[in-house]
Amino acid sequence: METHIWDVRAFKDNLHQYPYINDIKDTVIKGGLVAIPTETVYGLGANAKDEVAVKKIYEAKGRPSDNPLIVHVHHRKQLDKFVEHIDERVSKLMEAYWPGPISFILPLKSGYLCETVTGGLNSIAVRMPSHKIGRALLQVIDEPIAAPSANLSGRPSPTTFDHVFHDLNHKIDGIVNGDQSEEGLESTVLDCTQFPFRIARPGSVTKEMIEKVLPESVQDIHFTENEKPIAPGMKYKHYSPDTPLTIIENLNHKIDNNEKWKDTAFIFPESMKSLLPESAQFISLCKNAQDIKTANHNLYSILHSIDRSSDIQRAFIFGFEKKDQSEAIMNRMLKAAGNEIIKGDTL
Ligand code: TXA
Ligand code: MG
Repeated sequence: METHIWDVRAFKDNLHQYPYINDIKDTVIKGGLVAIPTETVYGLGANAKDEVAVKKIYEAKGRPSDNPLIVHVHHRKQLDKFVEHIDERVSKLMEAYWPGPISFILPLKSGYLCETVTGGLNSIAVRMPSHKIGRALLQVIDEPIAAPSANLSGRPSPTTFDHVFHDLNHKIDGIVNGDQSEEGLESTVLDCTQFPFRIARPGSVTKEMIEKVLPESVQDIHFTENEKPIAPGMKYKHYSPDTPLTIIENLNHKIDNNEKWKDTAFIFPESMKSLLPESAQFISLCKNAQDIKTANHNLYSILHSIDRSSDIQRAFIFGFEKKDQSEAIMNRMLKAAGNEIIKGDTL
């Protein structure tokens, strides 16, 4: 299949003037798959009412069919058709953080969306992206758009056009090129089907940010091995680069310079560069250990780049201290590293 490329970067502020805007719209309306930029990661979009189109998302990604998709809207009114009701408390959170990087799991009103979107569940995850191009596309198409991250299942999520192209060229109808995603990590997924709410996937809208709007509204959860995860997606292998990756915690001394580091990348804050061996390859994660926003933005791009570099055989990455703001990045890093963590003093 030929994958169309729509480079809309020059039309960021006036997408309706892009000459091929109707081609993008028609492709989606006719049941095609189009990757679209959002502020978190690129999404692989299809009309959420079209069973055949939604099934193609699962095929293109190689995604297990019991893992439900997030439905994207440009206006809250759209939710009336497929959400049973929106509680006052959820409404407050939507006012505070939409459009933006948080998805809400809400009770489903059945009959409007196709069944495959929810994987047979009676709830539905919804999000209104803030990305200028992404949001304008949703307005133009004006249908609820089911969109998981636009990567092959089990690979790091895509934050640039190149990442999407690499994973999905020839597998989907088109890709909208809209620059690098600012946030860089997938949205927070908040399960609002019971109170207190539960964070099914941490993201850049943190527990503290949610509780600033609604005090004591988020239940702390600790999964045990046997417990069923709230987001079905959390049980699958995720975000894994092919290059072996290990997290380093508490590095307080200079690592000896040694030829053995020649094929190794250290993905660290710039402020810690002097502690790393000169023979290794340094990759900048962010400015310093407090600069979590930049690290979120860069993480997936770096994971993609280490796999494409033939002279990197393994990588070590800086582990952030546990706090509200670092929860999302540590969640993704732990998955990418298959939970491999070592202490700095062992090096
Ligand atoms: O930032 C994002 O959320 C991106 C962009 C494209 O919007 N999308 C994204 O979608 O990350 P995806 O499909 O890769 O992740 C959706 C997560 C999965 O872990 C899925 O299991 C969970 O949300 N999820 C979706 N619907 C659910 C539901 N009804 N109940 C529980 N979990 C749900
Ligand atoms: Mg994903």
